[in-house]
Amino acid sequence: MATDSPTPPHRDVAVLVPAAGRGVRLGGPTPKALRDLAGEPLLVHCCRNLAAAPSVGLIVVAAPADAVEQVRALVPRAIVVPGGEHRQESVARALAAVPENFQIILVHDAARALAPPPLIEAVAQAVRDGHDAVIPGLPVVDTIKQVAPDDQVVATVDRSQLRAVQTPQGFRRSLLIKAHRAATDAHTDDAGLVERMGVPVHTVPGHPHALKITTPWDLVVAEAILRAG
Ligand code: C5P
Repeated sequence: MATDSPTPPHRDVAVLVPAAGRGVRLGGPTPKALRDLAGEPLLVHCCRNLAAAPSVGLIVVAAPADAVEQVRALVPRAIVVPGGEHRQESVARALAAVPENFQIILVHDAARALAPPPLIEAVAQAVRDGHDAVIPGLPVVDTIKQVAPDDQVVATVDRSQLRAVQTPQGFRRSLLIKAHRAATDAHTDDAGLVERMGVPVHTVPGHPHALKITTPWDLVVAEAILRAG
């Protein structure tokens, strides 16, 4: 029967969640993904938001190697693999665990635990629409200066052309596999690997709630976001 409503997404997206970082900048002995935010570990918030996105059919978590069983108990519906030494290695290990039927793959830092479902959907939809690599980004509000090692300003950068990039980042599966195979040095995000191959990367608007929880102050902000609903 014909209908005016758009075709509903059909859980065709797998999300890789690198969550194996120690969280040194946050302090404390607990790995960052397992740190408490309003009574629950960051990773639980993260996976709940992912599962609430209608496109997401599978979540694969790269856990700290010494906390794999603990993470399995926290997120029983996810596949959990031991993470690697660096973020890129953790992503590669999670990628290897994704069944062939998922052709759209998102990579989402556990540290961006409050990324809302509409952002996750927007990234997935942009890949579905034909962009093989998609990243969310926010306009930069500060004035940005390039500074030399001697602390002297070299130049003022045109901020209208800049974006502060977030996750989830979305990819056509074959491209993400190729990018990780071709990687020769460490990148802080997966789109960086794709850029290195000369493949276009598309941006969509980011969301302030997708902030990367890095410092104790970020936890305060995240709690305020949750309180505000
Ligand atoms: O260290 P950074 O904050 O850039 O880490 C970004 C994300 O990558 C975090 O969610 C962290 O848990 C993850 N990570 C990982 N494996 C590592 C290092 C970081 O999964 N070895």
